[in-house]
Amino acid sequence: MEIYHGDIVYSKDIKNLVEYKDSYIVVQDGIVEGIYETLPERYSNVEIIDFGGDVIIPAFTDLHTHAPQYPNRGLAMDEVLANWLDKYTFPLEEKFKDETYARDVYTAFVDDMIAHGTMHAVVFGTIHNKATDTLIDQLERHGIMSYVGKVNMDKNSPKYLLEDTQESIDKTELFLQKHIDKVYSKPILTPRFAPTCSFELLKELGNLMAKYKVGLQTHIVESKWEKEEAKKCFDGCRCDMQIYEDAGLLEYGPTIAAHFIYPSQEDIDILKKHNGIAVQCADATTNVIAGIMPTGLLLDNGINIGIGSDISAGQSLGIYIQIASAIRLSKIKSLYEKENRVISFAEAFYLGTKQGGSIFGNVGSFEKGYYFDALVIGGLEDKYQELKPVEVVERFCYAGEVKNIKYKFLRGKEI
Ligand code: GUN
Ligand code: FE
Repeated sequence: MEIYHGDIVYSKDIKNLVEYKDSYIVVQDGIVEGIYETLPERYSNVEIIDFGGDVIIPAFTDLHTHAPQYPNRGLAMDEVLANWLDKYTFPLEEKFKDETYARDVYTAFVDDMIAHGTMHAVVFGTIHNKATDTLIDQLERHGIMSYVGKVNMDKNSPKYLLEDTQESIDKTELFLQKHIDKVYSKPILTPRFAPTCSFELLKELGNLMAKYKVGLQTHIVESKWEKEEAKKCFDGCRCDMQIYEDAGLLEYGPTIAAHFIYPSQEDIDILKKHNGIAVQCADATTNVIAGIMPTGLLLDNGINIGIGSDISAGQSLGIYIQIASAIRLSKIKSLYEKENRVISFAEAFYLGTKQGGSIFGNVGSFEKGYYFDALVIGGLEDKYQELKPVEVVERFCYAGEVKNIKYKFLRGKEI
């Protein structure tokens, strides 16, 4: 058993970000037992680890990111999606045919993700099996709860990333078989997006979903261009989400719909029907995708939303940065569209911790029974005004850096 003392902040639900000043969190076998303002007598002989005035918060969840694009972060941010893919992203992904290069990049990626306080993630690899094996193996070794996908692309792609349909299916099945029994890092189906996948391929992936009972991650209505390209998938196709429903790719969860910027009512209805989760990747959408998720409207429609870094359309692995950007973008959206309201800090923090974490079980909060996946943040106070613990967390999301994460815990173990 461990007892930590400090200020404590976590989301109870979407409206309630709770704070405990000068309190104790009791952890038994990596799981939160309780939080106490005064420590009960029964714990009097347990040693207390004291973080003073620093704030203990849940570790973050990144629901959408591309590990192979890590070397491109912060580059080509003046391009828009289709050009950015063709000129910068696809050529980089080709390099992952080299397993040694892949292992090096993925080591740096995983280390940097953890350094930014992210301990649960949903990650794209590339079309290459061996490279993606090294990614999932590394996440498993670190004990990071995650879903990792070998990407599928069998049309509208450069020759060096183009798969034959049957080859794409066979390689995916091999990937599933190889990793299905992992403990922490699980395989997930990852058709890149509708413009690069034939419907035949998607239906075969649907069969693999039925056979192996795995989930799906992809990009959904991420740009006006992509939304229109998706409708060319088959005759009579009405919307992006319909493609995946018709292919049988929404039968098992999790269903991760990255971006979800231009959904029709039918896209919304289908995502909701299958209990999918949309992912807000705020900086990525302004950097290259040029759109803003209708976050307030979707939340008011009962859609689940998580937060993603979307490296390298996004420039940083910090989910805390994306929490702040999600609020900022909701303000801009609300200026132009009256039906979209501004989201609060409590809401945005909930999306990046408890809501995103929900696909992994009890992570992202400190209620009794949740894993103690935690960060201790500090160095954010100043001498001009005293901040409440929630204000320290808000400042961290807007102006924090990796150096403000002083300690990290994964299932109760310091890392
Ligand atoms: N759509 C298809 N591929 C990608 C990608 O790699 N990044 C983003 N942001 N969108 C995509
Ligand atoms: Fe993406």
